[in-house]
Amino acid sequence: MPDAERAPVLRKSRAPGRAGGIQNMEHKKLYIETYGCQMNVNDSEVIVSIMTSEAGYERTENIGEADLILANTCSVRDNAEQRIWGRIDQFNIQRRRRRGVLVGIVGCMAERLKNELLESGKVDIVAGPDTYRRLPELVSAASPDSPQMDVLLSRDETYADITPVRLDKNGVSAYISIMRGCNNVCSYCVVPYTRGAERSRDAFSIVREACRLHSEGYKEVSLLGQNVDSYLWKDAASGEEYNFARLLGMVSDISPELRIRFSTSNPQDISDEVLYMMAERSNICHHIHLPVQSGSNAMLEKMRRKYTREWYLERVAKIREIMPDCGLTTDVIAGFCGETPQDHQDTLSLFEEVVFDSAFMFHYSERPGTLAARKYPDDVPLEVKTERLNEIIALQGRMSAQSYAAQVGKVHRVLVEGPSKRNPDDLCGRAGNYMMCVFPGGGHKAGDYVDVKVVSATQATLICELA
Ligand code: SAH
Ligand code: SF4
Ligand code: F3S
Repeated sequence: MPDAERAPVLRKSRAPGRAGGIQNMEHKKLYIETYGCQMNVNDSEVIVSIMTSEAGYERTENIGEADLILANTCSVRDNAEQRIWGRIDQFNIQRRRRRGVLVGIVGCMAERLKNELLESGKVDIVAGPDTYRRLPELVSAASPDSPQMDVLLSRDETYADITPVRLDKNGVSAYISIMRGCNNVCSYCVVPYTRGAERSRDAFSIVREACRLHSEGYKEVSLLGQNVDSYLWKDAASGEEYNFARLLGMVSDISPELRIRFSTSNPQDISDEVLYMMAERSNICHHIHLPVQSGSNAMLEKMRRKYTREWYLERVAKIREIMPDCGLTTDVIAGFCGETPQDHQDTLSLFEEVVFDSAFMFHYSERPGTLAARKYPDDVPLEVKTERLNEIIALQGRMSAQSYAAQVGKVHRVLVEGPSKRNPDDLCGRAGNYMMCVFPGGGHKAGDYVDVKVVSATQATLICELA
């Protein structure tokens, strides 16, 4: 696990009149941008909660009026970081134009590139994913002459007691983080270094948060973790243990009207107990995001994924045996260290065998400090990585078309998200299997459950009529 690290915080009393002049009369304004995964989106909601309830800030979507500009960042691939460096330059236009504007970089890139960020002179606050409770303190002490940093990783922080301020406005669907960090150390992956060791959040606090969301009118919660199947929380009072299947059962008991999703499932850990729980409860959506990463056993071993192609295919077969209607999506990496044409063919053949509904597809990006960066040369040339990635994308396009077309004639219960982007007279929403459905409005609105029948399909959308 990465070393916990805390940089000295140089305290400085708040400069009188800085950042807002007549203080307390008017709220200072926080502008926040979020990059990376759903967990980062949820973390931004935690940050806004902390900054509004404890530091007197008010959120703005207009960067031009912000007193504090935060970017909650991602380090998973090099291009994610490059994009953020570009944004930091943009933020500095504001910082130069308006005295007192502070720029803070938080999240995974803050954790990974702490010193480079501070030394750039373009950033006033650097805060890692486990330090958000200290943000009010860091922000109030920060200035261009005295940047503040805290990147200490924690073994127990889960922000369980903080009520996230929901940033999306649809009021239908919300994220709940059920755990933080990761103990898997896949050789290509930076997450264990940026997020620290895995820890599971108090099950009762998760249920309370889901209950609150339900009472506020939310219809769907997505339970988030890097590896939800390794969720394990022990109640110190009773000594009882709660695994992911049990947690799913507890959240699904809240109301049949509250639908449950979750992500991410790791093929090595997804258990039959979870699959049976999903099959048994009508409000747990039948969709599993099951990142495969590669179809080659040699690559999986080098990636330290702890499962084989055969194991993965067995898990898929079991999912489909228990839930024949289960949606299945994946992540894949093309051109990992030493990947041969045969390894690549193994990925293509696995994609053909499984027929995923959709996939997030990437080419390998070496991350400094990871096991792969230390041990294996990044030896597949970029043109070859790109060529292989394009082949996977083209194949997955055909597979998506096939799996969406297979839905024609089926009836799905859809949770309405709002008007369709293409035609505002139509509505859109996801079926339980995560496929996006578009259908005539028929007087329904966001948050309604509607039964629809699929009449035709594209690679990414089911065109439906009201059933
Ligand atoms: N915890 C999840 C993955 C989180 S990262 C899991 O284990 O499945 C999201 C995705 O980014 C990964 O599934 C992987 O496909 C991709 N990814 C991670 N590190 C990468 C790297 N160095 N280069 C390219 N893709 C990467
Ligand atoms: Fe990264 Fe592997 Fe952990 Fe996923 S399970 S976050 S890929 S180390
Ligand atoms: Fe990125 Fe960190 Fe998520 S590296 S994918 S924001 S855990």
